[in-house]
Amino acid sequence: MTSANVHRLAVALLAALLVGCHKSGPGETAAGDSSSAARTKIRVGFSQIGAESDWRKANTESIKSEAAARGVELIFSDAQQKKENQIKALRNFIVQDVDVIVLAPVVKTGWEPVLKEIRDAGIPVVLTDRRVENEDLYRTFIGADFVEEGRRAARWLVDATGGKAVIVELEGTPGADPAIDRKKGFHEVIAQYPEMKVIKSQSGEFTRAKGREVMETFLKSPEGPSITALFAHNDDMALGAIQAIEEAGLKPGEDILIVSIDGVYAAFEAMVAGKLNCTVECNPLLGPQLFDTIEDILAGRDVPKWIKTEEGVFTRETAAEDIKHRRY
Ligand code: AHR
Repeated sequence: MTSANVHRLAVALLAALLVGCHKSGPGETAAGDSSSAARTKIRVGFSQIGAESDWRKANTESIKSEAAARGVELIFSDAQQKKENQIKALRNFIVQDVDVIVLAPVVKTGWEPVLKEIRDAGIPVVLTDRRVENEDLYRTFIGADFVEEGRRAARWLVDATGGKAVIVELEGTPGADPAIDRKKGFHEVIAQYPEMKVIKSQSGEFTRAKGREVMETFLKSPEGPSITALFAHNDDMALGAIQAIEEAGLKPGEDILIVSIDGVYAAFEAMVAGKLNCTVECNPLLGPQLFDTIEDILAGRDVPKWIKTEEGVFTRETAAEDIKHRRY
């Protein structure tokens, strides 16, 4: 028996001790034996970041409904934006003897100890949506190219302004993979245009409320009247900022051009209303790809290190037609 199997046996025994307080779940046999060997269903633990945005809600729904459609027992944990909660959930998944752990990490760093515990327990880890630093500690990552999303947003703005703009930037959660990479891609392109300046950057934590609050501060600052464009790392912050811009007596989409990322339904509504100029798509409907990958891993098939999602760029000119085809 390998040391990983010995460790799994130990956690299974611990789980058996805890079974007295473990409710009868869909993965159990009639006799109540919930060990992985006796189960007929795949048991997956999923640590989700929270419900901070429309994107996140669509992502959770896609994963939950796909698990249900395939008869997978999904143990879902909402971390409410806290890394500590995610770490606790991951340790619980080991005790619950899951077959696979799915993690959407709120930030990029600080996962090594818990991911090593999971590796020692012999449980494969699939990252979804966001990455962690150490590539050795997970099997695969399913998600978007965030750097490219930032570049796409910048290229749209360059074209729309002829390479001349005074830009403010609403960043995502500090330390989060998409906040780091979207910024990187955007600034990489903007740096080639001397008349495009990012004059202020601040986190709006990927939420509408914070996006509105930070945009209000930008507008009230001495440089406020010079702002001609906004780059928001997600649609929710852009939608909050639109409110702040209107409250300041300005026209979003006209006085201040706005480009954001995600492509959620509400962003299309804002484009149809002429208040948002462009959204760069980031697909949250990852459920089908995720469970295909889990099945591959459990069947011993090779999976690529990065399973990239395909995405487009949408502008307000075609939004009235595009909105008819949106699924989130
Ligand atoms: O990690 C993906 C990002 O997280 C989405 O752009 C954002 O809306 C979400 O909260």
